[in-house]
Amino acid sequence: MAPVAPNWHIHRDADELAQALAEAIARIAAESIAQRGAFHLVLAGGHTPSSTYARLPQLGRRWQDWHLYYGDERYLPAGDPQRNDSMVTAQWTAKVPIPAGQHHRLTLAGTLEEAAAIYARALPSQDFDLVLLGLGEDGHCASLFPGGDWGMEADAPAVLPVFDAAKPPPKRISLSAWRLRRSRRIFFLVTGAGKAGAVARWRSGEHIPAAVVGAGAEVWLDPDAAHWSRPE
Ligand code: 6PG
Repeated sequence: MAPVAPNWHIHRDADELAQALAEAIARIAAESIAQRGAFHLVLAGGHTPSSTYARLPQLGRRWQDWHLYYGDERYLPAGDPQRNDSMVTAQWTAKVPIPAGQHHRLTLAGTLEEAAAIYARALPSQDFDLVLLGLGEDGHCASLFPGGDWGMEADAPAVLPVFDAAKPPPKRISLSAWRLRRSRRIFFLVTGAGKAGAVARWRSGEHIPAAVVGAGAEVWLDPDAAHWSRPE
């Protein structure tokens, strides 16, 4: 059975999407902090979210109540420019006073499996408030790739070691599908014509990682990624 369809939201262009998404994140943060005293946010990696993160320093408030996690991280030394947290730091967190102990970054360990287990211990016991995810051209999300282990079963680890990612670099850790789905909200951010094929596969009901993790999620698209919406 095909997973529950997501809700598709097509924005005027990538800039308008980034601004609207940054405003939505700030609004959800304020609601979460008002209701529960904290905001637990899982960050997407890759390039797409960079322009959204760059807008957050002007929009966010109560930074002392923000707790950041990564949907996935490349298994590279701290400070490596290919790490997702390097982009997040440069665009956003270096400019705001989120307590260092609440910005949960990957730490390298003896083995990739140990690093995944250590990261799992940093995750909150409760559901996340918001999970942000990108979409790969092959339909992957976080570092859950077609043909790999997505960690759907409830007894799967919360964080998976990934040894052979189809997208370089090959070694990563990734939150598993079931742990990513334990969130009040899930947003995908998808821009550019290069993602139109993966979006079409998702809309056709194909069993790709994004469709399984993103069942019932909100998908934020620009017109280039939302190919079906364009006049022929
Ligand atoms: C990563 C990401 C990955 C990314 C997609 C889209 O570590 O690369 O977590 O899942 O979100 O591949 O990447 P772009 O936004 O760069 O297209």
